[in-house]
Amino acid sequence: MKPLLFAMPGNEQFTARLAELLNAEVGALSTRRFPDGETYIRLDSDVVTRSVTLVCTLDRPDDKALRLLLAADAARGLGAVSVGLVAPYLAYMRQDRRFLPGEAVTSQSFARLLSANFDWMVTVDPHLHRRSSMAEIYSIPVGVCHAAPRIAAWIRANVANPIVIGPDVESEQWVSAVAISAGAPFTTLEKNRRGDREVEIIVRDIDQWRDRQPVLVDDIISSGRTMEMAVGQLIARGFSAPAIVGVHGLFAENAFERLRAAGAGLIVSTNTVPHATNAIDLCEVVHGAMSRQQPALPTRYR
Ligand code: R5P
Repeated sequence: MKPLLFAMPGNEQFTARLAELLNAEVGALSTRRFPDGETYIRLDSDVVTRSVTLVCTLDRPDDKALRLLLAADAARGLGAVSVGLVAPYLAYMRQDRRFLPGEAVTSQSFARLLSANFDWMVTVDPHLHRRSSMAEIYSIPVGVCHAAPRIAAWIRANVANPIVIGPDVESEQWVSAVAISAGAPFTTLEKNRRGDREVEIIVRDIDQWRDRQPVLVDDIISSGRTMEMAVGQLIARGFSAPAIVGVHGLFAENAFERLRAAGAGLIVSTNTVPHATNAIDLCEVVHGAMSRQQPALPTRYR
């Protein structure tokens, strides 16, 4: 029997493309809010003995996560043999330690919630900084795929003479992979984050690249302050308007407008989070990771 994919609201396009690539069926799911704000969910397609995958990118997660967990539980309760999750963007990865006493380590809490409700998961470039693998926090198999080759292809096709720049030291993992694959040099800047919207970027030793077109690459553009400060610093150092590439373009609040006002050139993102800047399609990359993922069946079905 064909695998059955359900698109959580907003994920219809990504799901349809995945279904095409997987030769899977797309199921029908209805959801709405009751007048008091609670969520109603109905799986309109029969899931009995089916391998079910829910597709749900998790930007703005607090509005989406509970509905997703309820849908997963419904699928299992209705007889699905396995319930997997494709979350092109996986939220709650950055609070990965207690920076201040009493803080919640939400990356762990969120991992526990998803691990309890799904048999497997596939995601794109999760923000692994102080953790070295998803297995440290997720107890289910997690297939991780990477945007770097597609970002590199975009750079090769759209930017002449690039220098790939990461706005902070931790971005080196993404930036180096992109630059190597694009056949371009790379460097990173230094960042001090003082608050959600207060970021300082320090630029050292990059004047040798001034004749190149800067391409700033980061995994997440959230408030946009990291990229905004990096753009400002590069322009102040005499570089031409930097292009900006985000794997996950969350563009919170007025981030996009601020980046434009700061002097950014092209601003692009992958389609892990739907946005007007989406220029790099990762459906095939996610499909590859799904094909490698062996759905882990719950013990009762083994
Ligand atoms: C940091 O840990 C990430 O790699 C990004 O640099 C960060 O999430 C960007 O956040 P913002 O856009 O809010 O500066």
